[in-house]
Amino acid sequence: LGKKEINEHGHLVIGGCDVVQLAQEFGTPLYLFDETLLRENMRFYRQSFERLYPDYAVAYASKAFICSAMCRMVAEEGLFLDVVSGGEYYIARSSGFPADRIIFHGNNKTAQERELVLREGIGRWVVDSEAELEVLIEEAKNYRNGKLPLLFRLTPGIDPHTHQYITTGKIDSKFGLPIVGGVAREVMKKALAFPQFELRGVHCHIGSQIDSLEPFLKACEVMLEFMFQFWKETDFLLEELDLGGGLGVPYLDEQKDQFPSISEYVEAITGKVRAWCEEHSFPLPRLIVEPGRSIVNTAGNTVYRVGTVKEIPGIKKYVAVDGGMTDNPRPVLYGARYQALVANRMHDRSRERVSVVGKCCESGDVIIPEIELPRVLPGDILVVEGTGAYNHTMASNYNMIPRPGVVFVKDGKAKLVVRPESLSDLIRRDVLPGD
Ligand code: LLP
Repeated sequence: LGKKEINEHGHLVIGGCDVVQLAQEFGTPLYLFDETLLRENMRFYRQSFERLYPDYAVAYASKAFICSAMCRMVAEEGLFLDVVSGGEYYIARSSGFPADRIIFHGNNKTAQERELVLREGIGRWVVDSEAELEVLIEEAKNYRNGKLPLLFRLTPGIDPHTHQYITTGKIDSKFGLPIVGGVAREVMKKALAFPQFELRGVHCHIGSQIDSLEPFLKACEVMLEFMFQFWKETDFLLEELDLGGGLGVPYLDEQKDQFPSISEYVEAITGKVRAWCEEHSFPLPRLIVEPGRSIVNTAGNTVYRVGTVKEIPGIKKYVAVDGGMTDNPRPVLYGARYQALVANRMHDRSRERVSVVGKCCESGDVIIPEIELPRVLPGDILVVEGTGAYNHTMASNYNMIPRPGVVFVKDGKAKLVVRPESLSDLIRRDVLPGD
């Protein structure tokens, strides 16, 4: 999926580094990111907009993968950052990420989170409900530079035909203000009356892992229509349109042609917005997108060591690795599919059908239910591809398995950016009453 080579030892090479050596050096399991690919994807987004559209911002959705080094890279590449909790905001800020380039989301921002963000400042605050606006009327009165810049998250009523758990823009959704029934319009009109707010625009996020452009174009239309109506009714021009994230990516080689590229996606949405605005004589809004998966997924891989290999004669062969649903819950949660390589024998042409499973105490802890691999032996290094998004950030300590570290590779150099959890990390927060 990503850029991969094979060296003279028949070992897999990513970012100029021998993956088998990295497994030795840093231990397994390990998340391995190709820094060149990460940066390239961020640049594809920016360059595509640069060519096609006058005013834009690309906000990387940090929920897909976040750590201090990633935040620093996003800042270096000139992107904005989308955060959805005080925790993500805190990591971004401690890495030095500028507050005015952060977009703050959440359908239930806690008092503590609001206090932190209002104190330190924010680029855009995304209001998700009327109740949130009510609270902000009070809390934003003393906002640091006077006016809190707001976007309003709307539910445009679009079904993007992706997995139900990651569909977010339908009318029946826990997120956002419904356009139907004038709910969004009334809440926004109310906000107009308060000097502590600066109404910048509207936001929508229709879902994730979307494989066609059509739902995005539909979303552009619904959102622009809303902005236009709002202008006509209130004489107030909303200047920003944030379309959220959602562009899908292939997880298997055979899906390679099934997803629009970053540039096709940007061409399609900018083209749509331009055409719509021309037709309705509406000023071009500033366009914001919030891609997560399409920036990080293909750049990330998980490196495991194979432990037990077990054959049930005539039925199945199980290959167990030293991680599992703790570092990648996506197969269990969404039925997500992955492919893998045997990194220490890349030239081995033998093939056998196996099931790759984890080490958790659950039969459902399967990473790849069925895959053809070279004959796998205990001690082999197995690399699961395309695990950059929503793996590290969704990892758990189930069965008290320490979470893997993260290494960035580039030009033959490897940098540890998140150290692997140790056994003592597992009791760091424990308190023995009475001691
Ligand atoms: N903006 C907002 C407001 C979002 O809610 C999301 C994702 C994104 C941007 C980024 O979407 P992306 O470009 O990554 O599709 N855990 C699930 C994915 C949940 C996505 C939630 N929101 C998974 O593993 O597939």
